[in-house]
Amino acid sequence: PKKIAIMGAMPEEIAPLLDKLDNVTTSVYACNTYYEGTYRGKEIVVAYSKIGKVFATLTATMLIEKFGCDLLLFSGVAGAISDELAIGDLIIADGLCQHDLDITAFGHPHGYVPEGEVCIPTDVTLRNIAKEVANEKGLKLKEGIIATGDQFVANSERKEWIGETFKAHALEMEGASVAVVCSSMGVPFFIMRAISDSADMDAGFDFDAFLESSAKTSADFVISMVEKI
Ligand code: ADE
Repeated sequence: PKKIAIMGAMPEEIAPLLDKLDNVTTSVYACNTYYEGTYRGKEIVVAYSKIGKVFATLTATMLIEKFGCDLLLFSGVAGAISDELAIGDLIIADGLCQHDLDITAFGHPHGYVPEGEVCIPTDVTLRNIAKEVANEKGLKLKEGIIATGDQFVANSERKEWIGETFKAHALEMEGASVAVVCSSMGVPFFIMRAISDSADMDAGFDFDAFLESSAKTSADFVISMVEKI
């Protein structure tokens, strides 16, 4: 690739990345700050979008169209659906779906609209690079479907429903919008998340407690992938 985008949703998700960039210059477009710099000689643009699908769509589009990024890595935190995922564990998306997209009244499945797809797959080469890095670092890496929606899920029933309906292992609020943008524009993309909570009644408390440490776990992993891209 010529230029690699690395995005998060929140300041905490990109702060560990900014620490590692050299020759940084900043610019503001559409109310987001974009950090252009280098890492081990590779050109990188880092930005956080703000929370949710709409803001994430805007930022992903800007990174590609305005900054000319031709590959995108997302780093951040997620709520666990699967019991196999504990706080701090890493998951990479093999596909992303929108759990709050609903035109089932017309007989369509949850997450589907005409000319779209329920589950958008991520780039296989980038997933393989992640597995290589995990092996080298001796880290456990889960691969599975991640469900996205404009809701902070702190409810076991809602979480179980999302898990069953989409066969999803984790949930968050941006991944599927990045997937829609990148797949529509032919840009290879990768979504990594570290678990901050279990999307249950303790989720709000756990999220506040573990956002910073889990965001760093994810960011440190993603930056170490860059050397292999
Ligand atoms: N990101 C991290 N935890 C989350 C949750 N419980 N719901 C939605 N997005 C999240």
